[in-house]
Amino acid sequence: MNVAFFSTKSYDKASFDPLLSNFGHEFTYFEAKLDRYSAILAKGHEAVCAFVNDHLDKVTLKKLKEEGVKLIALRCAGYNQVDLQEADRLGITVVRVPAYSPEAVAEHAMALILTLSRKTHKAYNRVRENNFSIEGLTGMNLHGKTIGVIGTGAIGAAFCKIALGFGCKVLAFDPFENQKLKELGVAYLSVDDLLKKAEIISMHCPLTPDTKHMINKDSLQLIKDGCMLINTSRGALIETKSVIRALKIGKIGYLGIDVYEQEENLFFQNRSEEILQDEQIARLMTFPNVLITGHQAFLTHEALYQIAKTTLENLNDFEQSHPLKNEVN
Ligand code: NAI
Repeated sequence: MNVAFFSTKSYDKASFDPLLSNFGHEFTYFEAKLDRYSAILAKGHEAVCAFVNDHLDKVTLKKLKEEGVKLIALRCAGYNQVDLQEADRLGITVVRVPAYSPEAVAEHAMALILTLSRKTHKAYNRVRENNFSIEGLTGMNLHGKTIGVIGTGAIGAAFCKIALGFGCKVLAFDPFENQKLKELGVAYLSVDDLLKKAEIISMHCPLTPDTKHMINKDSLQLIKDGCMLINTSRGALIETKSVIRALKIGKIGYLGIDVYEQEENLFFQNRSEEILQDEQIARLMTFPNVLITGHQAFLTHEALYQIAKTTLENLNDFEQSHPLKNEVN
């Protein structure tokens, strides 16, 4: 198939190119983000390959349809960036990569927790300046802490196992309980009880109209004072302005995020020469107990290989009219 590949980065080409010859698809790589303005680049391609911050709203989808696109192959797990109803109405099929390496994201969530809890980000900078003082670097043990996991799908389950390995008590909320996790010692409870009891909360549910801003002014009232909040899922799960308020009064003791509500026009670009216009992320970066990474939780060699392989298999299945195991409905 002819595939227009949007939001291309060097690591995408490095993972897809070596596999392309085994699959026989033709890729055109575009650095541009896919949106209503760039959709015209898809002209002459039967499929587009899109990533998390591409913008597949009604207008973009209509333009893709006009250019002859039949398939949207998402090279990610989340699909909140696509107007699925409209894609369905237009007869455009959407496939994704549901689980390329849950451990990659789960391990990144734990990396954020360990960095915040042991202040290694500060120690790194200090030591490089020959400052070997350990004043102010007192951390906390994870062993024995209560961790609340919201969403125990592929990534949440991998995260629960890591947390159990650290000797944490693991609480979870998910509309669908995972029996295997229960056997390992994970205790399911309501989301409100989880918020009240957890000392560390890690978000692993998808962004949907139901989960948007699930961490907000009201739910933050429930959390323990000084609680650590980790979000490697989607930025809009948390209402940033309420989180900033909670950080200012110490209600949230630590915040680790790999995703940000307004990341769409910010992340995946080098903006080091620009004046930062986003007031909320600028404020977040002033807190000593906030750690932000730019949506890199998925970025491991193992995950990139799996993303490329599954995406190419999805293209094959579509081309050969095989059942689409990774179709998003
Ligand atoms: P998954 O589909 O395997 O699991 C999601 C789980 O969330 C399911 O068990 C589902 O029942 C649960 N859930 C749905 N609504 C919920 C609610 N209201 N409260 C609690 N749980 C709820 O998805 P997976 O692979 O575990 O990924 C989770 C999310 O992680 C994705 O939707 C995506 O947004 C994010 N992600 C982030 C990446 C990054 O690089 N930062 C990379 C990959 C995924």
